Amino acid sequence: MNLDCSRELVVLFGSQTGCAEDTARRIARQAHRRYFTTHVHSMDSFDRTILFQATPPLTIFVCSTTGQGSEPSNMRKFWRFLLRKSLPHDALSGLRFAVFGLGDSHYDGFNFAAKRLFRRLKALGAREIVGRGDGDDAHYLGLDGALDPWLDRLWAEVEAIHPMPREIMPEDTVPEPVFRVEPAVGGEERAMGRAEERAEERDMERAMESTTESAEERAMDKDTDKDKAVGLDDGSVAARLVLNERLTAADHFQDVRHLQFAPQARLSWAPGDTCVLRPSNPPSAAAAFLHAMRWADQPVAIAGSSALPQWVPRHTTLWHLAEHCLDITAVPRRSFFELLRVFSDHPAERDRLAELASTQGQDDLLAYCVRPQRTILEVLDDFPHSRVPLRYLLDVFPLINERAYSISSHATGEPRVDLTVAVVEHRTVMQAPRLGLCSQWLRRMQVGEAVRMRVERGTMRLPDDARPVIMVGPGTGIAAFMAFIGCRREQARGDSLLFFGCRRSSADFLYEQQLRKWVDEGWLTLFCAFSREDEGAAYVQRRIGENWCVLWEMISERGAMVYVSGSANGMPQDVRRAFVDVAVRGGGLSEGDALAYVRLMEKQGRYQEECWY
Ligand code: 2AM
Repeated sequence: MNLDCSRELVVLFGSQTGCAEDTARRIARQAHRRYFTTHVHSMDSFDRTILFQATPPLTIFVCSTTGQGSEPSNMRKFWRFLLRKSLPHDALSGLRFAVFGLGDSHYDGFNFAAKRLFRRLKALGAREIVGRGDGDDAHYLGLDGALDPWLDRLWAEVEAIHPMPREIMPEDTVPEPVFRVEPAVGGEERAMGRAEERAEERDMERAMESTTESAEERAMDKDTDKDKAVGLDDGSVAARLVLNERLTAADHFQDVRHLQFAPQARLSWAPGDTCVLRPSNPPSAAAAFLHAMRWADQPVAIAGSSALPQWVPRHTTLWHLAEHCLDITAVPRRSFFELLRVFSDHPAERDRLAELASTQGQDDLLAYCVRPQRTILEVLDDFPHSRVPLRYLLDVFPLINERAYSISSHATGEPRVDLTVAVVEHRTVMQAPRLGLCSQWLRRMQVGEAVRMRVERGTMRLPDDARPVIMVGPGTGIAAFMAFIGCRREQARGDSLLFFGCRRSSADFLYEQQLRKWVDEGWLTLFCAFSREDEGAAYVQRRIGENWCVLWEMISERGAMVYVSGSANGMPQDVRRAFVDVAVRGGGLSEGDALAYVRLMEKQGRYQEECWY
């Protein structure tokens, strides 16, 4: 094929959960069909000097926004570099670029990372190929609602810059796999017995533990800096489960668990930080997956780009990939159908897959997959004749993402990592209940089992001084506050107020005994709101309203901090409204001034939220 050498296209992503990376790969596949040689990298793993050349390749940036408007971790170095004052204002004058952001308009910092990146690239002289695209999870079609029309505009502009040498390649053209999976033993398939499999896996896990632990030990010898100790290697340490108990009554609809882990190496964190874990699939799901793909277990090797995440072993077995690496119970993304279609040679299934992958078919995809939360495994059952070639395994199936849970304990003496986890299980139109991968994995975990965990900084932080702390944490929103109160007690610091809400005192009053003990000892003032109790059913907002006088005194005269945490469902907005009312009643402020007052508190870091949908 005779192509001009300018047909190079780089797609750089900043991705937290894998969605931006998936989008980047999808864009690269579309570019491949337009005869571009493509390169997909995280922003931090790419040689950025290429962008500063006289004529760099066309570059598409895809980035999500995390937490309260910050950059995902794998683009932070690149972003910090771009912000350097020493960069000349025309440093990127040769660059033609486009930016697509992934976010959720429920959150205040909607697509902040993409917006900032777009502005900064322009300020450094780069020229946009097309205006910024803003993907929105809250759109009824999800991300694709904005992505598809944006891609149409992008390709039209790209073709104006680099005219197509000939007709676009057919839709089922896929480039070579990014991470090629190959049989490890001369192409022979080897079916292992279950016992043999388990033994092999245990060996592998042991080997993993011992190598990383010695690396940690080495690092600990050298490194006395507390923060750096958290960030060793990938920052993770082995930890053993020492407690796994249900906190809610047996007949309560929701299973909320208290898990406690003993880290096997030093791990430090501050109250408000989160513990990051990567779950595995239940063995039954791994078996169902191999069965659906008609694959016997076998040793495999993964070749290809060095960008394969460290935690995926290069030499492993199909069983290990199915149980520990591939997110086979995720709801598949559109790109999954695009690829499965390419590999299907069954006409009826192929047509149906084509429909689900098409722009016109997105309503259909919503009804078939997104709303009922149909999993990849269930989709594979519906398309029994469509099989993925082994070498494309890691292109088609997503990897399991990490999950972060607020830590409920504070690190002292012999530290234990305590987690407060609601086990996710709910119903859709599907016959089987939908199960949360990580919380169910934790629920099943037996005392003595080992996991790997690392700490990531959370958004809420305790003050260094003795000013009052007001915490609002209905349900599992209490998780981080258990660490807050424990820490304040140990430091013998100031007033701590907790507004806790649950359905009934007899059903889901999490950590009741511990909280009452702290109250008796004088470390905590506790306000409870029971939403389903016969008398005086209430949410936490009602208790905040009833106590406006003491709250206003603490906020306005003693510089109190306010923290709100929990699963959203309108709660953060309702609670904010309650604090605006406190300022109206307590400070005699007008509605507008009270709103501005709470906003100012937020700006000053005195009103902090950590909420999840
Ligand atoms: P409910 O389930 O009876 O509606 C923990 O989940 C507690 O938070 C429950 O008592 C729940 O009540 C309550 N809750 C639900 N929505 C809320 C909201 N918008 N504001 C405050 N509390 C809420």
